[in-house]
Amino acid sequence: LERVRNKPPLSQIFNISDFEYVAKQILPTGTWGYYSTGSDDEFSIRENHYAFGRIFFRPRCLVDVSDASTETNEIFGVKASAPFYSTAFAGSPMAHPDAEYNILRACGRENIPYLIPFQLSFPLNEFMESASPGHQNFHQVHFYTRKQVEEGPEYLGKIEKEYPDIKAFFINVDLPCLGNREKDCKIRAALDPSVDDEISVFASLDTRYEPLTWKDIDRLNKSTQIPIVLKGVLSKEDVLAAAKLGLGGCLISNHGGRQLDFAMPPIEILAQSRKLLRENGIQDKDFKLFIDGGIRRGSDIIKAICLGADAVGLGRPFLYAMATYGQPGIERAISILKEEMLRDMKLLGARRLSDLNEELVDIESLKFKGISSSDYLYNSNYTQMPPPPFRKRF
Ligand code: LAC
Repeated sequence: LERVRNKPPLSQIFNISDFEYVAKQILPTGTWGYYSTGSDDEFSIRENHYAFGRIFFRPRCLVDVSDASTETNEIFGVKASAPFYSTAFAGSPMAHPDAEYNILRACGRENIPYLIPFQLSFPLNEFMESASPGHQNFHQVHFYTRKQVEEGPEYLGKIEKEYPDIKAFFINVDLPCLGNREKDCKIRAALDPSVDDEISVFASLDTRYEPLTWKDIDRLNKSTQIPIVLKGVLSKEDVLAAAKLGLGGCLISNHGGRQLDFAMPPIEILAQSRKLLRENGIQDKDFKLFIDGGIRRGSDIIKAICLGADAVGLGRPFLYAMATYGQPGIERAISILKEEMLRDMKLLGARRLSDLNEELVDIESLKFKGISSSDYLYNSNYTQMPPPPFRKRF
C-alpha cells in the first residue's frame, strides 16, 4: 500500500512498458505471478515481443501525410479509431474492483473494440448496459463441457438477438488443455494458502476446457450470421482451412505465450498466412486476420498491419494500465498507442492504414529467433522463474 501511495503520477507514464513497471511494483506477488506468467520456460511469451524487434522499416519520403489517420476501414461492420482492440483475459477483479467495466468504458470513449471475455466477472446483460451507444465490440467464447458445445448455437443465437453491437465471435481453439503455467505455480506454492485460494477463485490452474473439432466449428458457424473468428490458430495451413470453411477470420495467437511454449511468434505466422491466402485466391477483404502477443509500441501495430493484419489485440498492457491507474490508465494507454502509430505512420510515409503494406517493412531477420538487440525496457519488467526456496536464506 506504501508503494501504491507513492506510485508515479499518470503524467509520468510515457509508454506501455511504464505501466508494466508500476504494476510489477504494486501488485501482490501472486497476482503478478498469474498475470505475467507464460508456459514452461517462457520462450514464446518473450519471442512474441522480440520478433517485432527483428522487423525494420523501409520508409518512403516526400509523401503528403499532413492528414494521416489511424482510422480503420470496416472490420465486420466495425469502424474503429485505430486497428487494435483490448483482448479477453481473466482475473480483472484482482486488478481493480470495477474490473472489465474499466475496459468497456475506456474502449467506448476511445472508440476501439473490446473483445468481451466469456469469463466476464459480471452477468453479460448487466455489463452491456454500460456500453456506450454505438460502441461495437467482439465476444470471446470458449466452452467448459461437451453439453455447452452442443448448446453453442443457442448461446450464439441469444447473443446475436440481444446484443446487435456484438459484431463477431472469437472462439478459442487453443485450449484442448491449459498450458504449463510453471512460474505461476512456483510463485503460488510459496504463498500463504489463503492468498492462493483467493487467486484460484479468479484463475484456477486446473480449469478444464472442452476441446473442439472442425465439425463443432462448422456447426457453430452455420448457426449464426455473426462472423466467427478462430482464436489461437498457429499455422498457415489452419488459417487456409478456416478460410475454406467460410469463417470470418483467424486470430493468430499463442495465448500470450501461456499455452504451447515454443509456438512461433504470431507476427511470423501472419507474414506466411496472408501470402498463402492470396495464393489460394482468397481476397484480403474476405478473410480477416488478427494477431496478439508482445505488442508494446505503436510501431509493433504498424508492422502487423503492413504484414496483413486487419487489427491486433493487446491484453497485459491494458490489464496493467487498469491495475495501476484504473479507467484513466487504460484511456492513457490507448492514446499513447494512437499517438505512436500516427507519428510513425507519418515518418513511414503512410497516410492511411491501407497504405501500410509489406514493401514498407524488411523481415529478412524475422526468422532468426533468439537473436535480438537487448530490449532493456522489456527485459527490466521480465520476471525470472523463481528457484526452489530453501527454508533458510544463505
Ligand atoms: C489464461 C486463461 C484464463 O490464460 O485464458 O489464464
